Amino acid sequence: MENGSILKLNNIEVMYQEVILVLKGVSLDVGRGGIVALLGANGAGKSTTLKAISGLLKHEDGEVTDGSIEFMGGRIDRKSAEEIAKVGILQVIEGRRVFEHLTVEENLTVGAHLNRTAAGLKPGLEMVYHYFPRLKQIRHTVSGFCSGGEQQMLVMGRALMARPKLMLLDEPSMGLAPLLIKEIFEIITRLNREEHLPILLVEQNVKLALAVAGYGYVLESGRVVMDGPADKLRDNPDIKEFYLGLTDLGTRKTFRNIKHYKRRKRWLT
Ligand SMILES: Nc1ncnc2c1ncn2[C@@H]1O[C@H](COP(=O)(O)OP(=O)(O)O)[C@@H](O)[C@H]1O
Ligand SMILES: [Mg+2]
Repeated sequence: MENGSILKLNNIEVMYQEVILVLKGVSLDVGRGGIVALLGANGAGKSTTLKAISGLLKHEDGEVTDGSIEFMGGRIDRKSAEEIAKVGILQVIEGRRVFEHLTVEENLTVGAHLNRTAAGLKPGLEMVYHYFPRLKQIRHTVSGFCSGGEQQMLVMGRALMARPKLMLLDEPSMGLAPLLIKEIFEIITRLNREEHLPILLVEQNVKLALAVAGYGYVLESGRVVMDGPADKLRDNPDIKEFYLGLTDLGTRKTFRNIKHYKRRKRWLT
């Protein structure tokens, strides 16, 4: 991915409150136009990685204490979240924070304020409504009353209004019904293909993530323990075992067994 790289993390270390070391040397690459999956168990450091890139870390008393982050050739790890948004990186944080008292369309309008090119509100709304026709239907609804799926579409749409050059997407499927998840992932794929939007995707749903991504990284306790093309990762026995819950026989193991096994067998040790 060297040539087409748009984002590069070089061995970054992240600390919270000057003492809690969470990322212990993470390197990763996002290519132009690709979807890259960042996988790993709860607490592995996935959200922290996204926040290090977007600069949101600084709002949580976190800091990149070593290594560097480059976006389109320029260093961004010292920049503020606002500056990073202006160069074109938008993070859709987990948990779907909409402005609850505003309507769907008002939420989208707020997103347009980060628009670097000032390309105008209307074309932005048209583009968002093109990918999310549901949002158009409910554009006058107060967003606090929208369903979880609609709110997920809304936070993604709001980020799109800023015309990002790279989208960081944190757990879009969390807590949604399977049909909705399918719909949202289809939209993610279309945004990537049709808008040529590179996406760094954090997902607990490993199967889905590896179905849409071209490349993936597995994070464990703040370190990348495995990376490779998505199809290779899908076939990897450890991924199958720990993340897809499949044994060699293709049968499902109980979560408890997996946890137990996981404790015994550490990766790459
Ligand atoms: N603001 C914070 N202050 C201190 N520790 C944090 C903070 N945010 C996250 N952590 C810790 O960093 C580790 C990684 O968290 P996170 O990046 O949210 O993991 P993931 O997204 O993979 O579930 C966890 O142990 C978590 O408790
Ligand atoms: Mg997280």
